[in-house]
Parts: sequence; C-alpha cells; structure tokens
Amino acid sequence: MKVSVIGAGNVGATCANVLANYDVAKEVVLLDIKDGFAEGKALDIWETAAVLNYSTKTVGATNDYGATADSDIVVITSGMPRKPGMSRDDLISTNANIVKSVTEQVIGASPNAIIIVVANPLDVMTYCAYLAAKVDHRKVFGMAGILDTARYKAFLADEIGCSPKDIQAVLMGGHGDTMAPLTRYTTVGGIPVTEFVAADKLEAIVNRTKKGGGEIVQLLGTSAWYAPGAAAAQMVDAIMKDEQRIFPCCAWLTGEYGLHNIYLGAPVVLGKEGIKKIIELDLNDEEKAMVEGSANHVKEVMAVLDNMKLF
Ligand code: LAC
Repeated sequence: MKVSVIGAGNVGATCANVLANYDVAKEVVLLDIKDGFAEGKALDIWETAAVLNYSTKTVGATNDYGATADSDIVVITSGMPRKPGMSRDDLISTNANIVKSVTEQVIGASPNAIIIVVANPLDVMTYCAYLAAKVDHRKVFGMAGILDTARYKAFLADEIGCSPKDIQAVLMGGHGDTMAPLTRYTTVGGIPVTEFVAADKLEAIVNRTKKGGGEIVQLLGTSAWYAPGAAAAQMVDAIMKDEQRIFPCCAWLTGEYGLHNIYLGAPVVLGKEGIKKIIELDLNDEEKAMVEGSANHVKEVMAVLDNMKLF
C-alpha cells in the first residue's frame, strides 16, 4: 500500500518516520512546498531502513502531487503551527486556504484515498478538507483523540507509577481546551482509574490534558511533533491492517450524540474503508454537557470557516 504525508515539517516527517518503522506500507511519499526539503527528510528516513530493519521505501517530492498518485491513505499536516500565546483557532485563516488547496490536489491525484487531517484548528480543518475533497465523510477524518488520550495516559502513568500501555481511555469533543476526557471510561489494567487516583488529582490531570498542546508550545515555542506524528501513524497502521481498532477520532456526526453536521471527537471503529462505525456511549448529564459545550465551540469556529466563503 502507498501512503502520502503532505507537509514535511516536524509532524509530517515524524509521521513518515514512525510509519516507515512500522514496515506496513510499500511506499511512503513525503511532500512539501519547500524545495528539496521533503526529498532530504525522506532520504534521511530511507537511510535508516538498513539500521532499523525495515523495507518501506520513503521518497520525497517538492509540490509534485503526481508523486502521491494512487495513494491509499494521505495524511495532511500542512499549515502553520502555533506560537506561544496563540490558540489553535488563531490559525484558521492561514491554514484553511492551505488545507483547501492541498486537499484538492490530493484528491485529484488519489480520488479513492482516505484522508487523515492533522492541521489545526483540527476539527475545522477536517471539515475544510471534507468540503474540498467532496467524498464520503467516512473517508475524511481527523487525528486528535489518540494524541489527547496519549497525553492523558502519560500523566496518569506518572501519577500511578504504571505503564501507559495499561491505561485505556476515551476522550470526546474538539481538539482544544474544551475537550472532554471521560474519567468514567478510564481503566488501568481493567480496573477503574478512581481506584488509583483521588478525585482532586484526577481533575488536575484532566485539566493538564486539556492544555497539553499548550504546555509543549510554552516549552518549545512551537507545537509538539513526536506524539502528534506517531498518533497519525497509528491511525494509518490500523487502517492498513483493517484491524477494526477503536480510537477517539474527529468524525463527521450525523445525529450521533444528538449532534448533526459537525466534525467532533468521538470513539470510532477504524477499518480499511475509513470510519466503519461511530460508537455511541450512554453519557451521563455532566458528560453530555461537556461534549455539548465543546461542540458549540467547534460550531463557532466552523462558522468562521463558512464565512470565509472558500466553498
Ligand atoms: C498539539 C497540536 C499538534 O496538540 O495540536 O500538540
């Protein structure tokens, strides 16, 4: 199978690197607008194949979507990252134009591709890609929930003194400060998290998770890339293997959770056709209010995109 990653910046290059290490794709194409940039990163990744023992061929291209032709999956990471003091929503006007143009070229070269969006503001850039791609919504979705739950699991693992591998968690809502990690559905080795962590500590971990992206921006002066790139690669891997894995992803809701026509984080089953199913949890009133609050925020940012009249 062939996978293309658009944008050879930190997130895109990390995604391509992790994917190559998985050794599940025949070819990974890395594309960027900056001359020679994707070619250089792709060559560097390919040159690690003999050391790390994989066969996936990684190639780079400068703005040549012909190189991405007939991809099975395309990951879109193009766009500006955040700087300190910025929210993800501040990126909308710049990134919407980029994501629209990239998606049109991606679909032109690979009409049957599954598109995974990683650009920010994530939920609305996924909506933008969906409008530009004009394909079934089950084939266009966003990566956020795996990253956000990974952060949540990392903080919990530190607190509990266990491996993050043993933590199972689900998170809903938008990829922003209104996201809703669901503590009632969080387990550690199959045991409810509340058996390990006191309520006040759990609340502090939830709050740290909500601001997890911002914590990295403060430290680095730009957005994170290792965890976002790896999270996108995990989605690609699950789709390629048609494993029916369950992840929180940014999906188009058509009535689930009482929400219509919105891209929002929800647990889904991923298969080779894309989103096979959106899982509907029986949320309690408090959880419903958190998800609705997050949906309202995402709708406001969707309206900003609609008002840009790009479509
Ligand atoms: C983050 C950015 C990539 O959460 O949205 O780190």
